[in-house]
Amino acid sequence: MGSNNIILIGFMGSGKSGVGIQLAKKMDYHFKDTDEMIVAREGIEIQEIFDKYGEKWFRNLETTLLLSIMDTLEKTVLSTGGGMPMKDRNVNLLRGMGHVIYLRASESTIIDRLSGDTTRPLLQGENLQEKVKKLLEARISVYEKVADIIIDTDDKSIDDIVEEILGKKGG
Ligand code: S3P
Repeated sequence: MGSNNIILIGFMGSGKSGVGIQLAKKMDYHFKDTDEMIVAREGIEIQEIFDKYGEKWFRNLETTLLLSIMDTLEKTVLSTGGGMPMKDRNVNLLRGMGHVIYLRASESTIIDRLSGDTTRPLLQGENLQEKVKKLLEARISVYEKVADIIIDTDDKSIDDIVEEILGKKGG
């Protein structure tokens, strides 16, 4: 298992994919995204997985995915689904796979970025603000505890965030 990987964690809308792609390019690493890998494997969209089988099923797919890639992941920036660290099992796996970086975004930044989004099953329907607030409250301390490095992303460009990550990890 390579410890030369970078694992990006953070709430939906915190910029994990955008930052991850750019960071991987700069470092000459591969880029992988757990949501995309699950969709490719299952052959259906995340929303449909939640609708048909429920959140718990999706969480198990996340763990299965990590178990199946952990031994071969090398020189990769791995962007993870926002709920990934909420399961202890996943946390242990992620921490064994590389440096864990938490892309932190404030509630208002997240709401700005996700208003109108139709792809996140946990945020569909009425009252986006209330949903984000509740989930964030439950998750922030976990993200902070799990991370080796925390990067604040509010009001920063992708390039700024990438440079900050490279500076903090000494690369
Ligand atoms: C989720 C985040 C999503 C996706 C799924 C559940 C979550 O990924 O895994 O909709 O529980 O926070 P992103 O963080 O990439 O949006």
